[in-house]
Amino acid sequence: MINLKRDAGYKAAEYVKDGDVLGLGTGSTTHYFIEAVGKRIAEEGIKVMGIPTSFQSLLLAKKANIPITSLEEHDIDLAVDGADEIDPDLNLIKGGGAAHTLEKIVDYSAKKLIIIADESKEVESLGAFPVPVEVIPQSSRVVMKALEDMGAKPEIRMAERKDGPIITDNGNFIIDAKFDEIESPLHLEIDLNTIPGVVENGIFTEMVDKVILGTKDGIKEL
Ligand code: 5RP
Repeated sequence: MINLKRDAGYKAAEYVKDGDVLGLGTGSTTHYFIEAVGKRIAEEGIKVMGIPTSFQSLLLAKKANIPITSLEEHDIDLAVDGADEIDPDLNLIKGGGAAHTLEKIVDYSAKKLIIIADESKEVESLGAFPVPVEVIPQSSRVVMKALEDMGAKPEIRMAERKDGPIITDNGNFIIDAKFDEIESPLHLEIDLNTIPGVVENGIFTEMVDKVILGTKDGIKEL
């Protein structure tokens, strides 16, 4: 059966070189990348290490027999991560899985960053997807007010099968901020992080080297 996320994840694994330290993104697309790297370890005997961006990617990496390391010990040669929206300048919205804080640290620090996604994530301009903003829980009312003043409609992301807000891997809340339009992703990324209480927001600018999209007509690289 056709699986565009799988196509993108397996294609990205072809860019992994023997000896690489890999940044392992989070989500249903990077799931396939991690699986594919595990296959290359088993079948070709390549030696790589992984730095996960979430408990999810840590568990998947362990299942794929990818040795784990950390940013304290190694620099990252290649990070591969997913996205919720990708614009023509390769700006992103990320954080659909509430992992964008560690993802941004890992993606930013990598020598090379490849984003993998199915074709539905390619957009003309960012903003149909709300911008995830990770906040210190005690700041959430203050940050919601600041986001409203910036023209957004903010909502605290609620958990499923747990009462109340979702809690990130870092013990924080996520506020999803819907903007009518995002004229400058770079300026919005910077402005959001100046609000006290904001840990990190899900706009990623100026860090992507390549996008691999799974499309119905095959792989498309941007
Ligand atoms: C997690 C992310 C994900 O990479 C993003 O939400 C895309 O996920 P998926 O591959 O499941 O569509 O940013 O915080």
